[in-house]
Amino acid sequence: MDLSQLTSELEKIGAEAVQLAQGASSTQDIDDIKQNILGKKGRLTKVLRGMGQLPKDERPQVGQAANKVRDTIGEAVAIAESRIEHEARDRLLNVDIDMTLPTALSDLSPMGSHGVGALHPIVRTSEMILSVLDGLGFRRETGPQVEHDFYNFESLNFPADHPARDMQDTFFIEDDVILRTHTSPIQIRALMAQGEPPIRVSGYGAVFRHDQDNTHSPMFHQIEGLWIDQETSFAHLKGVMNTFLKELFGEQLRTRFRPSFFPFTEPSAEVDMSCFQCDGTGVAANRTLNNEHGQCKVCRGTGWVEILGCGMVDPNVINGVGLSSDVYRGFAFGVGVERVAMLRYGIAHIKDFYESDVRFLSQFVGQG
Ligand code: PHE
Repeated sequence: MDLSQLTSELEKIGAEAVQLAQGASSTQDIDDIKQNILGKKGRLTKVLRGMGQLPKDERPQVGQAANKVRDTIGEAVAIAESRIEHEARDRLLNVDIDMTLPTALSDLSPMGSHGVGALHPIVRTSEMILSVLDGLGFRRETGPQVEHDFYNFESLNFPADHPARDMQDTFFIEDDVILRTHTSPIQIRALMAQGEPPIRVSGYGAVFRHDQDNTHSPMFHQIEGLWIDQETSFAHLKGVMNTFLKELFGEQLRTRFRPSFFPFTEPSAEVDMSCFQCDGTGVAANRTLNNEHGQCKVCRGTGWVEILGCGMVDPNVINGVGLSSDVYRGFAFGVGVERVAMLRYGIAHIKDFYESDVRFLSQFVGQG
């Protein structure tokens, strides 16, 4: 090819490429243009290879013409690319979208597309426990979460440096200011505020201990009750515990009291209840509720579930708030809200309560 043939060939390629770009309707079309014309084996490249046959002084002219054609094609391709991108976006936007349809998230809610909120399982469980106590005549009280050593320990018969304090895995703010490790300081505050018994109060709230595994969290919730009067006995404690637990877990429930230790109660007991899942038999009727050894998963085949701590208020506690233990006696009991909720709902990991995963939380909508 001579010079004029080469330049007219270049022009022809350019014009064709521009036309192709203008007609392109997909990114595939664009890729084809790039490959067939500008690519290594493309038509433009081929023509430029033929430049070698031209006399040296004619080559720059062809070079210039080739650059011009390449620019023209590049421009047409860029315009086509952006047009195709816009067309694709328009196609997407022009689809009829019904904004009122439920989203994937609201589909998870048993309340349907309205996504109505619900009480957190811990709040729900607390309310259930507290309302049983309401019915037994306990008045609700709360107190500070950052608590003085006096209310959390000293007044509850934990002397300074007593090893019983080790049981309470305490977070310290200062030497004598801590995050309360239990709800018992609420009882002391209520007692001191009221003065003379009879007193019947329930305390509820978050408590803190540095402890963490599947069933323990550094922050959890307790509910406890205190009943002080002149003739209060261990029989009353048993009666209230039995009534309380039957209200929560059902009439068929049986309890057993095991000796235990708390600094603020004497005698102290741990209360076990007959397992609500296997009715105390150790083997659930529904086999899927048993573990690989054929034992009920809730009580691990023992038939019993540990549920709360309790005892007769230690005379030191009564005397410590300025009352006379010769006149007054009483009992107290404390229960972990998470523990009750985990048992009732069959939850294996305590942290599920705190992760705010709507897929977990929405399971409790509408449950009692
Ligand atoms: N406060 C106790 C604890 O958290 C629980 C408890 C309360 C035990 C009242 C007995 C009586 O360890």
